Amino acid sequence: MSSDGVNTGRRRFLVAATSAVGAAGAVGIAVPFVGSWNPSARAKAAGAPVKADIGKLEPGQMVVVAWRGKPVYVVNRTEEMLDNLPKLTDELKDPDSQISLQPDYIEGIARAIRPKLLVVVGLCTHLGCAPKFRPEVGAADLGGDEWLGGFFCPCHGSKFDLSGRVYSGVPASTNLEVPPYSFEGENVLVIGIDMETA
Ligand code: FES
Repeated sequence: MSSDGVNTGRRRFLVAATSAVGAAGAVGIAVPFVGSWNPSARAKAAGAPVKADIGKLEPGQMVVVAWRGKPVYVVNRTEEMLDNLPKLTDELKDPDSQISLQPDYIEGIARAIRPKLLVVVGLCTHLGCAPKFRPEVGAADLGGDEWLGGFFCPCHGSKFDLSGRVYSGVPASTNLEVPPYSFEGENVLVIGIDMETA
């Protein structure tokens, strides 16, 4: 990617992080930007992994963690959110993530190592805007009763469910990317290092 592309991506990211916090106020859901968990800019440029303490992430909450200049969305999904995932199969382009980028150890519709914890790159797979976290079931502007919570891209209207799976009939063609990640103990998420599968 050109240096222009990187800068553009970063601008979008900052705008998105700001607007996500604004939107959070409206629906009462905190979306903190986890700047303090980031390594130095130099380490990030080198592609260093980043760690995030997820111990205080409440059910239903999302945090944004910066990794390699990209926003990574981390959502602590509730039981209701997980229960809704199978209901969406007919609405999605790739419900089983056959063509989407994700590590081999990510399987199933939860698309996660720990089912409750969603970890996806927060860049729309259409043209790279940052989708907004819209967990409210029944949101009137997103289809009313048919909306079971997910992510909405404000640039051209792509929609993703709470596993980052893309809806049919929107410009984005693939699900949100799942980055390589693993855990250290119970509460530390490590983005950029694969889970050991051996
Ligand atoms: S960049 Fe998200 S819909 Fe176009």
